[in-house]
Amino acid sequence: MVVIAIETSCDETAIAVVRFDGTSVDAVTRNSLGEITILAERVWSQVAIHEQYGGVVPEIAAREHLRVLPLLLEEVLAEAGLTVKDLNGIAVTRGPGLKGALLIGFSFAKGLAAATGLPLVGVNHIEGHLLSPLIHRSSLRFPFLSLIVSGGHTELVEAVAPGEYRLICRTMDDAAGEAFDKAAALLGFRYPGGAALSRAAEQVAESRYSLPRVMLERPGLSFSGLKTAVALLVRRELGRVRRDRAVEELINDRMISELSFSIEKTIVEVLVRKTMEARAERGLEQVAVAGGVAANRVLRDELHRALGGGDTLFFADRRYCSDNAVMIGLVGAWRLAAGERLAARSSVCSRWPIEQMVRPS
Ligand code: KG4
Ligand code: ZN
Repeated sequence: MVVIAIETSCDETAIAVVRFDGTSVDAVTRNSLGEITILAERVWSQVAIHEQYGGVVPEIAAREHLRVLPLLLEEVLAEAGLTVKDLNGIAVTRGPGLKGALLIGFSFAKGLAAATGLPLVGVNHIEGHLLSPLIHRSSLRFPFLSLIVSGGHTELVEAVAPGEYRLICRTMDDAAGEAFDKAAALLGFRYPGGAALSRAAEQVAESRYSLPRVMLERPGLSFSGLKTAVALLVRRELGRVRRDRAVEELINDRMISELSFSIEKTIVEVLVRKTMEARAERGLEQVAVAGGVAANRVLRDELHRALGGGDTLFFADRRYCSDNAVMIGLVGAWRLAAGERLAARSSVCSRWPIEQMVRPS
């Protein structure tokens, strides 16, 4: 089964062509997903466009998706050596995300389905992240604990079976990636500054600053208090918020590095502690981590330290931590194989919590 997958939920336009070899629909829906082979994929990031505004501008994101999608479609089909006649299905991100951005990909996919007669399925973007550690062959098996940490979402989920997810907790305010980016902006890094802040932190092995470890003693997740604490600390230390210095210059600055070190340490400590608590509480053995922040080296190291080696900890491959269409193809392919189809009159869902997902009947 060859599926084309389309992702436009935020500021990345992505298309992938994947071949799906689910052993049988029964096996697929019960405990594993079957395997996908990536035939071709493209991710067109708009980061450089939104950087100047300090965040994603929804209107611009949608317009850019509209411009780029047809070009990417042509490219992936050419690279895979296929035409639309060789495809067996279409998967598209239906939500959650920016409504206007979602609508572009969704309409594009609906148009393609109407023109070709191919079956179409709508995919939950978070389910894509959650299952992205399964893109490559691994010994990860349901049920497992999933930590999803991206720019828009931070949640701990019990992945019971494909399509069956129980929410353990989600952030009450900022997502972990958002906390990284907001703190990074206060230090003068350009949006999205999470990775740059992490590189700055790597320059030092300790820090003279300490920050409140938000919610550690209470249930749930919250990062907005951290942003306030960082703002106060930065104001005190720098005298003023430095917004316009080049990242290269900042990376060599000891004070910025130490602040970055403390910020990263605090966010990671909260995520690791909450993950370990959830794992013990739910009696789950394996932990899978996905989303943009899963690329963070300190988070990876600290989770490894907490969980030990072996078959316990799984990360999405670095290139599939951030938004991509391969993860949408993986979810879409097994849902199509299990007989799921998008209802003709359905539209996008800009809010679509993971726990509302159902298994294909
Ligand atoms: O999953 P993603 O690409 O987009 C969303 O769906 O949100 O995640 C992007 C987020 C941004 O906040 C970015 O700063 C953060 O992931 N990020 C990182 C790192 N790489 C990306 N945060 C900390 N350390 C990193 N190495
Ligand atoms: Zn995402």
